[in-house]
Amino acid sequence: MTDVAGQMLAKIERGVRLESPGEITPEYREHLVHLMTMQADSELAGGYGYVPWIAKAPTVEEKHVVAQIVKDELRHAAVMYGLLGDLGFDVAGHVRRYGEIFTMRIEAGADIGTRRITSDKRVNIFYYPIDTWADFVFFNFCMDRGAGHQLEDVRGCSWGPWARASRGSSRRRSSTSATASTGWSGWPRTRRPTTRRRRRSANGTCER
Ligand SMILES: [Fe+2]
Repeated sequence: MTDVAGQMLAKIERGVRLESPGEITPEYREHLVHLMTMQADSELAGGYGYVPWIAKAPTVEEKHVVAQIVKDELRHAAVMYGLLGDLGFDVAGHVRRYGEIFTMRIEAGADIGTRRITSDKRVNIFYYPIDTWADFVFFNFCMDRGAGHQLEDVRGCSWGPWARASRGSSRRRSSTSATASTGWSGWPRTRRPTTRRRRRSANGTCER
């Protein structure tokens, strides 16, 4: 075992976070880059998949919320690619290489399981299209819950910069999470009268 490997493992066992490339072995770096690229690529590809729903969302308020979600996903991607850049990863070359692939989606009925179909690192759910507004809402609800669990795992990881970045993401995700997990009731108050008006309209007691 090399000196770097021995010191790295000793720090991990003591719960001391690793903070610089000089503290990690090539194997640790390889796996770290792989995992962080999975998150970065997923944030970017996911954000691209939401973009059409700014135009397709039913109301102006909902278009605004979708735009905010896209902004959040692109910000998450920028943070993750920034962490990768700090490790010497060629972020510009990577994003240029996969620029158009990130927008590619497969048929809704395709079953790819865990098989990789392109060489970017996004998780497989982001290969699937979002075909309806109900899909969009449910997709966001499920992804938000899933991402919350993943961020909890990352908060306990041995790479300090990623652990701290995940805490920031968790805090900033809180408003979106509350929105998604409560069936979007956390949306701007201006939406509520619209919903009530629609409900009354459906009952035939009030026209919008
Ligand atoms: Fe995200």
